[in-house]
Amino acid sequence: MSDLFKNYIGGKWVESVSGQTFDRKNPATGELVATYTKSNPADVDAAVSAAKEAFKSWRLYPAPKRGEILYKVANLLVERKEEFAREMTEEMGKVISEARGDVQEAIDMTFYMAGEGRRMYGQTTPSELQNKFNMSVRKPLGVAGIITPWNFPMAIPSWKIMPAIISGNTVVFKPASFTPRTAIRFVQDSEEAGLPAGVVNLVMGGGADVGNAIVEHPDVPLISFTGSNDTGIDVATRGARLNKRISLELGGKNAVIVMDDANLDLATDGILWSAFGTSGQRCTAASRVVAHTSVQKELVDRLVARADTMRMGDGLDESVDIGPVVSANQLKSINDYIAIGRNEGARVAVGGGIASDGNLGRGHFHQPTIFDDVKAGMRVAQEEIFGPVTSVIPVESLDEAIDVVNGVKYGLSASIFTADVNRAFRAMQDIFTGILYVNAGTTGAEIHLPFGGTKGTGNGHREAGTVAMDFFTEWQSIYVDYSGKLQRAQIDNQE
Ligand code: UN1
Repeated sequence: MSDLFKNYIGGKWVESVSGQTFDRKNPATGELVATYTKSNPADVDAAVSAAKEAFKSWRLYPAPKRGEILYKVANLLVERKEEFAREMTEEMGKVISEARGDVQEAIDMTFYMAGEGRRMYGQTTPSELQNKFNMSVRKPLGVAGIITPWNFPMAIPSWKIMPAIISGNTVVFKPASFTPRTAIRFVQDSEEAGLPAGVVNLVMGGGADVGNAIVEHPDVPLISFTGSNDTGIDVATRGARLNKRISLELGGKNAVIVMDDANLDLATDGILWSAFGTSGQRCTAASRVVAHTSVQKELVDRLVARADTMRMGDGLDESVDIGPVVSANQLKSINDYIAIGRNEGARVAVGGGIASDGNLGRGHFHQPTIFDDVKAGMRVAQEEIFGPVTSVIPVESLDEAIDVVNGVKYGLSASIFTADVNRAFRAMQDIFTGILYVNAGTTGAEIHLPFGGTKGTGNGHREAGTVAMDFFTEWQSIYVDYSGKLQRAQIDNQE
């Protein structure tokens, strides 16, 4: 297919001003997926103007009516789930069952935020004075700039776009350059569901041309960004100069604790799923296993036996366990960490290489890899690798395990496998991450609870859940005096 996919601005599918294009190839096969229009700051200007214009009426559109459109978007996603999942696998590689999960997460979030259109709770309080009414209501800010990564190409855009628009903002959306097609499908669904022109605008292209232009545009007061730490800090720095509201969702170095009383069958399943799902390219991936020394050998033996038999290949094949990683650069960066780990003295228990036998040579495949006998301070135990690599770190006690879990710059997700309720509660109390699992891996967050991390993972905001509304709205406190005379709270109260 050689159709050119275009930007969506002010309700029209349009080519970029420059007329340039870029291609995306299937990371499993090297085949061309599609060609996209490549944008620059002039296209961002047009999208922001359209969003600004649409905001004038969208902010006044009753929120329950906005919700009705979101219900329609969600129902269309339900109908097309299989088609969109297959396209997602072709463009970024995750296996089809996980791609279905990604679309499902967008469906869940869209239904959830549709319901928020009938809630959007504010506050009412008593007044200090008679014949006076106090309340605080949520207000949209205007144009929201939304910049998303390739690892959850439909779920993460939905986490941002749906709370933004249900609360009355309009959107300029820049998807990752590896996954524009999934973004286009999401926007097409919104168009078909009857979202008014200009409420969501899509601009495709790179971070330097499109991302920075959104972040620095004077008419975009808030930015929601998910991606790497380096880019996130750059976004925040540029935005801070213009005093913008910015939400960052960045890296992780998530750990699974396995105590001596853990159910090892369960722990093995949880670790494999969390470490190697989406080929480890999740910000919630289990990239550390903190194992009690009395179970370390048994656990590693089980993990190695299972990892050894995992099938790599094109994720459209239902029998495949691990798809490709997203690009040649990503593959190289993952593989560089194998050398770093070996040089630091970590032992490769399984995997450790690029996989290129037969058809695998057409794509970007990395073997599922487990480092054993890793020390907590090693680079492979401190830095986000974003690939199918996990490091087993032995510990002697729960206290030591908790210190290791907390001893990284990130704070997204963690988990503990134990049969002892006291230990589980100690972990909940003392582990400082935004998400914590007991007797499950580090992935699988549900959309109705806050999602996000502490420390280097973010800047204090949370996505999903009702708290998502806090980022996308301003409070307006309103005092209505119906006494018909001048009442002065501070002074009249003293009398
Ligand atoms: C991410 O890892 O980038 O909790 C997002 C999970 C998914 C979302 C993860 N629901 O693993």
